[in-house]
This record gives sequence, C-alpha cells and structure tokens, in this order.
Amino acid sequence: MKEKGYTRLYWKIVATTLCFSLVPLLVVGFSIYRQFSISFKAKIMESLTTLTENRCGAIDLFLDERIAQLNTLVFTNSMEQLTDEEYLTRVFTLMQMRSKSFVDIGIIDRDGDHVAYVGPYRLKGVNYKNEEWFNETMLRGIYVSDVFTGYRMFPHFVIAIMRREGDRSWILRATIDTEIFEAMVKAAQVGKKGDAFLVNKDNVLQTTPRFGGELLSRITYPHFPRFSGTRVGEMQLSGDYALFGMGWLRNKDWLLIIKEDPLENLSPLLQTRLMAIGLVLGGVLIIVVGTFLVTGAVVRQLISTDREKAVLDASLVQSSKMAALGKLAAGIAHEVNNPLAVIKEKVGWMRDLLVEEDISASENYREFDDAIRKIDYHVDRARKVTHRLLGFARRLEPVQEQVDLNRLMDETIEFLRNEAHYRNIEIQTDYCPDPPDVVSDSAQIQQVFLNILNNAIDAIGKAGVIHIKTMFNPKDREMAVAITDNGPGIPNDMLSKIFDPFYTTKEVGKGTGLGLSISYSIIDKLGGRILVASEEGKGTTFTIYLPVNSRPKPQIL
Ligand SMILES: Nc1ncnc2c1ncn2[C@@H]1O[C@H](COP(=O)(O)OP(=O)(O)OP(=O)(O)O)[C@@H](O)[C@H]1O
Ligand SMILES: [Mg+2]
Repeated sequence: MKEKGYTRLYWKIVATTLCFSLVPLLVVGFSIYRQFSISFKAKIMESLTTLTENRCGAIDLFLDERIAQLNTLVFTNSMEQLTDEEYLTRVFTLMQMRSKSFVDIGIIDRDGDHVAYVGPYRLKGVNYKNEEWFNETMLRGIYVSDVFTGYRMFPHFVIAIMRREGDRSWILRATIDTEIFEAMVKAAQVGKKGDAFLVNKDNVLQTTPRFGGELLSRITYPHFPRFSGTRVGEMQLSGDYALFGMGWLRNKDWLLIIKEDPLENLSPLLQTRLMAIGLVLGGVLIIVVGTFLVTGAVVRQLISTDREKAVLDASLVQSSKMAALGKLAAGIAHEVNNPLAVIKEKVGWMRDLLVEEDISASENYREFDDAIRKIDYHVDRARKVTHRLLGFARRLEPVQEQVDLNRLMDETIEFLRNEAHYRNIEIQTDYCPDPPDVVSDSAQIQQVFLNILNNAIDAIGKAGVIHIKTMFNPKDREMAVAITDNGPGIPNDMLSKIFDPFYTTKEVGKGTGLGLSISYSIIDKLGGRILVASEEGKGTTFTIYLPVNSRPKPQIL
C-alpha cells in the first residue's frame, strides 16, 4: 500500500516537472524557429525580388541603349547616306567600337528589299516583305523581334526602326549578338542550380536556359499574362519545385524567369532547423534524465526518512510503555509487597501451628498441609513478580564503569553452566579480540544477558546450541553482542509483541513476560538498542548494541 503511494508520488513529481519544463522549452524552441524561418524566407524573397528587378532593369536598359543608338542613326542620316555601303560600313565600325553587341546592320526599302547591308552574312538583296518583323516595323515604327533563325539559319533577334522621309519609308535593321545578350540574362543564374532565361508571351525560350530546354523550344510552364513589377514565390511549375522570380520587360513582351534551388537557398534554414531540433532534443533529454534522477533521489530520501521515522516512532512507543510500566511497577510492588509479607509470615505461623498441634493424625491434615504449601508457593510467585517490578522501578540511575563485555559474558555464562549442561545445551563463544571497554553499568547489562540467555535456554528446551558473538564497529564506536539459539524461532506476527510488558507464551507461573521489556528498557537507558531476527524452525538472534562511550538517555519518568 505504502509502496504504491511512493510510486504514485514519484510519477506525480516526474509528470509535473516534465510538464512544467518541457512545455515551455518546446513552445520557446518552436516559436524561435518559426520566427527565424519567417524572417529568413522573407529575406530570401526580398533578395530574389531585387535580383529579378535588377536583371529586368539591366536588360531593358540594354535594349533602351541599342534602340536610342539606332534611332539617332536613323534620324540623323537620310536613306541615301545610309544606302551608301561605304558610309554604312564606317558608321557600323564606329558603332561596334562603342559596343560589340551589334552583329550586322542593313537598310530595307518599303518593298522589303535589303538595299544595303554590312555584316558577316550575304543578305543583300534578300526580300523581307513577308517577314513578320518587317510588317510589324512598318506598322509600329520601332520593333524588337522575337528570336528567330531567318535566312541566316542561326537564332538571332533584330531591332528595326522605320523612318518616313517625305513620301517614302525605309527601315534600318540591326541584329543583336545573341551571345552577348544571353550572357546578360545568364548573369542572374546564381548558385549551382540557379537558372535564368527569357520566354516570349507564348512561352517560347528566347535565351538558352542552363538546365533543360533548347533555345526556341516551348517550355511547359503555365501562361503568365503580363503583369507589372516582379513576382516571387515558392512554386511548383510543371514538376519543377523551386523559388521563382519573374518580371516582364518594359521594351518587349519577354518574361524573365529566374529560378533558384530552395534547398540551396534554404540550407542555412534547414541547418538551423536541425540545430534547433538537436538543441531541443538535447534539452528534453537532459530534463528527462535530470527529472528521473532528482525525483528518484528525492523519493528515496523520503522513503528512508519515513522508515527512520517509523523506527523512531516504534522505539518511542516502546520507551513510553516502559516509562508507564516503571511508574506502575513502583506503586504496585510497594502496595502488594506488604500484604504478601504478612501472608508469608502467617503461612509460616500456620505451618508451625500444624506441627505444634500434632494433628498429623487428623483426616484433614493433608488438605491443610497442601493448602499451606500452595499458598506459600503462590506467595513466592507473586513476590518474584513484585521483585522484578521493583527492580524495574529502581533501575533509574545507571552507574558508569569500565565494562569488558567479553568478561562479563563469560561470568554470566558461568551462572547458567549447570542448567545448560543439564539440558544438554552447548554454549559457543566467538569473541572479538581486544574489544574496547564499554563505559556502562555492568550489573544491568548482565541482567540483560541473563534474560536473553534464559529465554534461549527455555526456547531450546533440550539439546541445542547457543552461539554468542561479540563485535566491535570502529566507525560508530559501538560494541555488538549477538546471541543466537537454534530453538523454534518466533513467528513474524509475534515479533512486535515480545518486548511488551507481560507478554509471555510460557505457562502460567513459569514466565512473567517482563524479561525482554526490562532488557529493552535497560539497554535503551544505556544509550544502546536491541534488535531481534528470527526464522521459524531455525532459531532466533538477539543483538545488543552498546556505544563504547555510553550516552545514557534522560529519563522520561
Ligand atoms: N530465544 C527465544 N526463542 C523463542 N521465543 C522467545 C525467545 N526469547 C523470547 N521469546 C518469546 O518472547 C516471550 C517474552 O519473553 P520475556 O523474556 O519478555 O518473557 P518470558 O521469558 O516469557 O518471562 P520471564 O522472562 O519473566 O521468564 C517469551 O514468552 C517467548 O515466547
Ligand atoms: Mg524471559
């Protein structure tokens, strides 16, 4: 029942401690990680937004510059001047000196005929009347084409500007070096898995992506209608899970797509998560182990304190019983002794009378004689009890003398030698060599030895062994005397009663039941203790512990 109580208490403390320490730890750990993760992701999105904006801006600026350059050329020169190939070559060389991004340049008349051309291809005389870019330019004035292969069978895109000179219109067309243009887009390819490319409004690739997809092939992304600014986010696009940044160019309906590997970008976050989980788990482990260890220690301490308290309580109960008995004993012994003395005297006188009167012939003589003997016997019994009780009451102030317990035991055994021999009981001794003298009351200790040895002899009855061992414990400065018999033992349920006053199992007239209670009170008063261990059918051991330097207890009486 008690064990269950301790177990319940143990688990209660463990559960409460764990609850009060783990919950805040988990909440704090989770909140810090969540906050960190939110701001980290926001930071990544912010930098992706900036990257996308900057790249869109740079490409637009590139196109702005080329368009402005060509515009200047168109509107500061007449068609006559520019169709002069020598002049056009000079102009083109000058343009290339400033920037290598132009591959070639040409003038096309209103019928689509390529009337002048400077560049690495043989394109002069080619007619562009049916080309889409030609028609678009004639319609809009300025046109930046999509990437196409055209006559040169090589992917390129053109910037074309139309000028109306009087009633005739003509077009200046320049081809942009795709390598230089692509390099500018690819500058946004960051990390090991990052990608950046342009698609037109039909999702046809306008620059070559780093991974998967050929120039001019169509990607399977959903269609994004033109929007202003940039868009970023973690998205799943046609099986590609990535961080995406997108922005439409201002000068052309091309969409810049920047792709970044979330694992690469978020790896510091993942590392932080692992670290946070590790730290929290470590904390949990330490708390759990600590809780179990501390709770175990606390409960163990509690159990031992409770046990000590129980022993103390029991000894206090026993001591107070002794004290009560002491008081009672003095009173009863005194009151009963006087009438007993009178009865004893009167019995003696009656016996004398029987002899004097010479009534031995009387038929009631035997009855008288028997009655007188019985009275005498029972008076003696009663006096024995009162005698012991008086001894109990008188034994208040122990003397202090040097006592050699081995010698004292030898003397005590001498008293019992004949009785033991008669009953065929062997008394063995196993003495501690050179024990320190105990400062105590030898007469009282001897009485205890006698009581316990008498009990052992009574318990054995006939034929047996009494083993006496003396020991010294230097740590506690304590002597121990263990008296073991191989008698019938004491049943467990009786062990707690044997020190009670008047508890006896002996026949009426044989035992007073005071021997052990007196012994207990003596040893208690001398500052020691008596313990008993017994196993039914095997025997009993009484162990008396006495401090070497006696600490007699103050009297409760
Ligand atoms: N060595 C022992 N083996 C078995 N039982 C014992 C032993 N010592 C004591 N007892 C039991 O404890 C009881 C109480 O002992 P205690 O010495 O107090 O009284 P008692 O021996 O019966 O009477 P008294 O000591 O006056 O002769 C005994 O009656 C006996 O039942
Ligand atoms: Mg006894």
